[in-house]
Amino acid sequence: MAVIEGKPLSHYERIGGAASVKAAVDLFYDRVLADPAVAGYFEDVDMPQQRRHLALMLTVVLGGPNEYTGRGLAEAHQPLRIPAAHYAIVGEQLVATLAELGVPADILADVQDVLAKAQTEVVASGSLT
Ligand code: HEM
Repeated sequence: MAVIEGKPLSHYERIGGAASVKAAVDLFYDRVLADPAVAGYFEDVDMPQQRRHLALMLTVVLGGPNEYTGRGLAEAHQPLRIPAAHYAIVGEQLVATLAELGVPADILADVQDVLAKAQTEVVASGSLT
């Protein structure tokens, strides 16, 4: 863990705070929208609001301040009937985006842990593929 004068830094601070999270979310959604396998989910979605929501949520995942006030993951995603294969694609896009931006490997590993834990909330219950 990175330390400055005895105070451990959160992942959020280590990657550069709000500006870095915003850059990551923008690049991430550009990639998702460029992928025909999953772009369709976002056709009727207000993307500026969506980018703000995911930025706030990613901030919490990285140990930054909790300002997320959106719906819970299950409530937002269960109606979309997302299969596990699409979850895997979007998860890989997120990790690839963070890696491309130079996020350190230990933080990537923690994000992957969170993705594994969040899967049951996002993926349609009963989906195995
Ligand atoms: C762990 C992975 C994911 C996280 C953390 C996440 C996060 C979020 C957040 C914070 C929102 C906003 C909720 C709100 O409006 O209150 C949202 C909405 C949405 N997500 Fe995700 N998401 C994930 C995976 C996915 C996947 C895999 C897909 C599609 C393949 C997807 C498609 C959508 C769509 C279409 C909406 C908009 C729903 C609506 O406005 O009704 N998400 N997501």
